[in-house]
Amino acid sequence: MPSAAHPSAARITLHPDFRRGTVDRRLFGSFVEHLGRAVYTGIYEPGHDAADSHGFRRDVADLIHELGVPMVRYPGGNFVSNYVWENAVGPVEQRKPFLDLAWRTVEPNLVGTDEFLQWAEREGVEPMMAVNLGTRGVDAAAALVEYCNGEAGTSWADLRIAHGRAEPYGVKLWCLGNEMDGPWQIGHKDAHEYGKLAAEAGKAMKLVDPSISLVVCGSSNMQMDTFGAWERTVLSYTYDLVDHISMHAYYEELGGDRASFLASGTAMDRFIDRVVASADAVGAERRSDKKITISFDEWNVWYNESRFGGEENLPIQRDAPRIIEDVYSGLDAVVVGDLMVTLLNHADRVPVACLAQLVNVIAPIMTEPGGEAWRQPTFHPFATTARLARGSALDVRVDAPTYTTPRHGDAPLVTAAATVDDDGTLALFLTNRSDQAVEVDLAHAGATLGLAEGWQMVADHEPAVEGPEHAAKVAEACWSGVDVASVVAPAQGGATRVRLAPESWTAFAGTLARG
Ligand code: AHR
Repeated sequence: MPSAAHPSAARITLHPDFRRGTVDRRLFGSFVEHLGRAVYTGIYEPGHDAADSHGFRRDVADLIHELGVPMVRYPGGNFVSNYVWENAVGPVEQRKPFLDLAWRTVEPNLVGTDEFLQWAEREGVEPMMAVNLGTRGVDAAAALVEYCNGEAGTSWADLRIAHGRAEPYGVKLWCLGNEMDGPWQIGHKDAHEYGKLAAEAGKAMKLVDPSISLVVCGSSNMQMDTFGAWERTVLSYTYDLVDHISMHAYYEELGGDRASFLASGTAMDRFIDRVVASADAVGAERRSDKKITISFDEWNVWYNESRFGGEENLPIQRDAPRIIEDVYSGLDAVVVGDLMVTLLNHADRVPVACLAQLVNVIAPIMTEPGGEAWRQPTFHPFATTARLARGSALDVRVDAPTYTTPRHGDAPLVTAAATVDDDGTLALFLTNRSDQAVEVDLAHAGATLGLAEGWQMVADHEPAVEGPEHAAKVAEACWSGVDVASVVAPAQGGATRVRLAPESWTAFAGTLARG
């Protein structure tokens, strides 16, 4: 637990001219995989009272809008590495179920490419598609791009038209496989095998549609033995072709090590710096002016080691089984808010990120089949950040005491990120990882600062229990508006002092203008 020996004020310096980069809306993306109940009884449940005429749940879509997600990655995840997309297009009654080996689940193929893309279009979210580079290759990947984006007059585009969709979908962002460095991946490859395949598949996909952007797989996490060498090798094959390299990271409290868990944002920060350094090293060697950016297309709190027994131990199941439906606490939500602080602080190199996942599977939105849909505690910091963060991420200077964690070494007790819009609208996000309240001085020399509204998530100490009542109880206890007048006061030298609750994440909306 963070030491109580550092309740003293941290200092945070803000100026509207110190800008790190534009906040790309795709930073607030999410992810729907054919896994457990993400699709079936998640976004899609024909027969449910809230189902629309296409069988998709309106109550879930409404929560997705409230969450502020502008982009959704699909269809996997590990699932994509054994997916035969052709079997899930065309007349539904002719589609056959298949055994998905990634999650050992019988996939009924009722929702496929067309159903997902049309749902995304109706809901106004951008689709981010992944192709199977596990069991399949160049041909299937290029065919899928043609099916989605091709104009009439070629076989795959004409098949889409025959299936009732005349207009191309115009999918812009494509993942070249998923976690191909992971031995658990169906069709796992070494870096050279994958790098060559990704280069050839990507080349063919771009020949079909030169307007698309490509994400090449980076490491599945920073602990992989091949981390670093993997990035270097795959980029040596794909540097000139791809736009982004992927990062995935999940965090959990292990063995009661709350201090390290609260410092997950610091671990994410170092991970991003190392991937950026690896990509830039490849660029430097090639004397290239091009910068590869990051698609952090899976991130979240996931009790993977401590609660999930591993996919290889799952029995073969059908009918949308409950798989990795983690129930989150206020503490988890504080960590999620803090991970978003890290993402905003890398807005210059991280334009795309996906909270993994969106519904039921390690998700901010939960449903009961035939029942209600509700928000997990993690929903609140995500939705608030997506709503407030606008314009440019500032280069915020944080001078804060550090504490020592068993897993991540020294980490700051206070973290901060801020954005400003052209009209001077400010969003400020602050995490206090200490178990004591701290006072933080916001120095803003040369600028006028106003804090108008605030929202706060505090960690709880209750073990998580299942169900919507629990989520409501945690939200009631941990999530609240901030009475700004009672926590903000003038400080020396024209600074503004803010009091942050113990183990908390706080967002302020206000103004920051020159002068
Ligand atoms: O999000 C759950 C799984 O985590 C994804 O399928 C995989 O890509 C990652 O290991």
